[in-house]
Amino acid sequence: GKKISKICCIGAGYVGGPTMAVIAQKCPHITVTVVDLNQARIDAWNDPDTNNIPVYEPGLDAVVAEARGRNLFFSTEVDKAIDEAEMIFISVNTPTKTYGTGKGMAADLKYIELCARQIARVAKDDKIVVEKSTLPVRTAEAVKNILQNTGNGVNYQILSNPEFLAEGTAVEDLHAPDRVLIGGDTTPEGQEALESLVEVYANWVPRERILTTNLWSSELSKLTANAFLAQRVSSINALSELCERTGADVSEVARSIGTDSRIGPKFLKSSVGFGGSCFQKDILNLVYIARSYGLKEVADYWEQVIIMNDHQKRRFATNIVKTLYNTVSGKKIAFLGWAFKKDTNDTRESAAIYVADDLLNEQAGISVYDPKVPESQVYSDLDYLETRASEKNKQLVTVVTDPYEACKDAHAIAVLTEWDEFKEYDWIKIFENMKKPAFVFDGRNLLDTNKLKDIGFKVYSIGKEA
Ligand code: NAD
Ligand code: UDX
Repeated sequence: GKKISKICCIGAGYVGGPTMAVIAQKCPHITVTVVDLNQARIDAWNDPDTNNIPVYEPGLDAVVAEARGRNLFFSTEVDKAIDEAEMIFISVNTPTKTYGTGKGMAADLKYIELCARQIARVAKDDKIVVEKSTLPVRTAEAVKNILQNTGNGVNYQILSNPEFLAEGTAVEDLHAPDRVLIGGDTTPEGQEALESLVEVYANWVPRERILTTNLWSSELSKLTANAFLAQRVSSINALSELCERTGADVSEVARSIGTDSRIGPKFLKSSVGFGGSCFQKDILNLVYIARSYGLKEVADYWEQVIIMNDHQKRRFATNIVKTLYNTVSGKKIAFLGWAFKKDTNDTRESAAIYVADDLLNEQAGISVYDPKVPESQVYSDLDYLETRASEKNKQLVTVVTDPYEACKDAHAIAVLTEWDEFKEYDWIKIFENMKKPAFVFDGRNLLDTNKLKDIGFKVYSIGKEA
C-alpha cells in the first residue's frame, strides 16, 4: 500500500484522542492532527500541563507529553487538516437517536454525514477515509455515496477500523491490542488502501493480530463484540438475583464457571449494571437493525440484554429503599463513585445516574464523591434525564471532594464504582460518623464484607444473601 505520512482524525473524544496519541507515539514518521469543533476540548488537549487533558486514562498524559508538538497536533482547523491528510479517520460520536424514526434505538449518524460532506467539499486529492466510530452495518455504503456524489471528482477508499479499547485501560489496550480489525473493499484499490492502514499499525502491532475482512464484516463485528460482552454481564447479573434468594454466592458461581476454558474468567463480575457510552447504544442499534430487516427473534433476543440491565439498576435502588424501612425521604445516602467504571472520568450511561434518579424520586438526599468526576458533570447527568427541575436536583444532591464528608451522618452508603481507593478508607471512622444502623450497599462487590460486618455495618452485596 501507499506509505502514509499525514493522518487527520475528526473527533477528539475518548476514542480519537487516545487512539491518535498512540499512533503518533508509535509512528514518529507520521504527522497526526486531531481536529474537533469543540474549542474548549481542543484547548484542554493542548494544555501545557498534561494533567488537564480532557480524557482521564492512566498513562495517557505521558503518551501525549511524548508526541504532542513533535508529530501530534490538536486543532480546530478541520478543513486544513482534511486538505493536508492522505488518510482521514472519522471518530465522531454516534449516539442513540433522540428524535424521529428510530428514536431511542437507532444510531444518530448526522455527525458522520456532516464529516463526509465536509471531506467531500474540501478534498482536492485522493483520500482514504477510515470509519473509526462504531457504525451500523452498511454505513460505508452511505459514506461512499456522499463522497462520490458531492466531491470534487477525487477518488475515495473507505475502510472500517472499529476501536476495541475499553475506557480505564485505553493506553494498555492500544499498546497491546488483542487484535486490530480493518475492513475494506475487495477490489484491488480497496485492498491497497487496506494495506496502507495495516502498515501503520504494523509499526507496533504483530501482523498476526491485524485482521482484515470485508467492510460489512468489520462494521458488524464491532456491534457483535459489544453485544457479546454486555450479554455476559447481563447473564451473570441475572443469576445474581437468583443467588440472593437461594444462598448461592455469585462470585463463587462466576469462579466456578469461569475456570471452564470454553467460558473463560473475564467479564463475569456481577454489578449494579453495566454503563458506558457503548454497550447500551450499540445493542439498541443492533436490535434496531435486526428489526429493520424483519428479524423479530434476533431483535428480541438481544434486547433482553438491555432489559436485564435496566432491571439490575432498578432493583439495586429498590433494595436500598426497602431495606431502609421503606422510606428514604429526607435521609442522606452517600454515593461512592459516579463514573461508569474505575479509572475513567466518563459518566455516560453510568448506573449511578439511574440509581440516583430512583432515589431522588423517593426524596432522598444524596451526597456524591468520585475521585475524577466534577460536580458540574453530576448535575448535568441528572438534568439530562429531565425527571425533575434542575433546581430540585441541586437541592437534593451535593457533590463533595472528601469521601468522609460524603459519608458523614449518612444512613447508608452505596458503592457505584469500583475505585481502588474505596477499599483503603478508614471504615471504622466512617462507621462512627454515620447514622445507625449504618448500611452499606456494595454495587460492585468491592469491599471486604466480613470486615465491615465486624465493624458493625449492615452490608448488602450483589448476588449474596444479606
Ligand atoms: P466523544 O463524544 O467523546 O467524542 C466525539 C467528538 O467528536 C466530540 O469531541 C465532538 O465535538 C466531535 N465532533 C462531532 N462532530 C464533529 C464534526 N462534524 N467535526 C469535528 N468534530 C466533531 O465520543 P467517543 O467516546 O470518542 O466515541 C466516538 C466513536 O467511537 C463512537 O462512534 C463510539 O461508539 C465509538 N467508540 C467509543 C468507545 C469508547 O470507549 N468511548 C470505544 C470504541 C468505540
Ligand atoms: C466497552 C468494550 O469493552 C470495548 O471493547 C469497546 O471498545 C467499548 O465498550 P467500556 O464501555 O469502555 O468498553 O468498558 P467495559 O470494561 O467494557 O465496561 C462496560 C461496563 O460493564 C462498565 O460499567 C463495567 O463496570 C461493566 N462490567 C464490565 C461489569 O459490570 N462486569 C464485568 O464483568 C465487566
